[in-house]
Amino acid sequence: MAEEVVSRGGWNPNQYDRFKAEREQPFYDLAALARPQPGMRVIDLGCGDGRLTAWLHREIGAAETLGIDSSEAMLAKSEASAGDGVSFRRLDILDATEEYAGQFDLVFSNAALQWITGHETLFPKIARLVRPGGQLVVQMPANGNAPSHRMAAVIAQEEPFRTALDGWVRVDPVQGPEFYSTLLREQVGCAEQLVRLQVYDHELEETRSAVEWVKGSLLTAYLARLPEDLHATFLERYTEALVAEVGERSPYYYPFPRVLMWGRMAG
Ligand SMILES: C[S@@+](CC[C@H](N)C(=O)[O-])C[C@H]1O[C@@H](n2cnc3c(N)ncnc32)[C@H](O)[C@@H]1O
Repeated sequence: MAEEVVSRGGWNPNQYDRFKAEREQPFYDLAALARPQPGMRVIDLGCGDGRLTAWLHREIGAAETLGIDSSEAMLAKSEASAGDGVSFRRLDILDATEEYAGQFDLVFSNAALQWITGHETLFPKIARLVRPGGQLVVQMPANGNAPSHRMAAVIAQEEPFRTALDGWVRVDPVQGPEFYSTLLREQVGCAEQLVRLQVYDHELEETRSAVEWVKGSLLTAYLARLPEDLHATFLERYTEALVAEVGERSPYYYPFPRVLMWGRMAG
């Protein structure tokens, strides 16, 4: 597995699905950016359980769609979505960029590339998967400055977590939309592009609901690195810190910015 990868297992499909409708909407918004053409060959990078990959395949009338993911747990249910031109494989995104270079008309990735650092080198690598004239379509959360994310880094620096994590904190590699616009133009080789920042409006039941949300995403990175006997105390300290930061609110308004982009490679 390539060294730049920062996600290390820890994914729990049931926890991830707890906010299913909220997590699916950006997928559909992203799919709407793709411009279908007859007989497309598609790859979905970080496809999760593959249900939405199969939906995308049908929606755009693709000939063949491959979903890849590095998590065995996330792929466990993917068999149910395979068939009729859809297949799945356990594979790291960075390894795929070498193995499948130049093979796809559409390279699609929803909510996965935020787990890989170094986007100035990552995006040109991913673009190698796209055929000349093909499309690259990506969505990533851009909420690294949200209290839910800042507080995780603060608690990770407290003992005993700091020692157990060997000083590691998650640094969000996602940048602003202008960064990706320049990247698509200058490094990726897109002839046309559309990049936007969209804030999704989530009303959660209470402040503590945000903990349940990030337990299915951000906190998997911390919990995967911490010994199991520290999981409960880490979650407890994290919850206290988040409540102290934003207050005990009910409902809790959790604005969620995401970067969505579409680019077409020069033909
Ligand atoms: C937040 S989930 C999104 C799943 C799916 N794309 C969706 O929209 O529902 C992120 C997925 O990216 C996968 N992932 C993260 N880093 C990866 C990597 N380097 N290679 C392959 N998959 C990766 C995780 O295993 C996880 O299933």
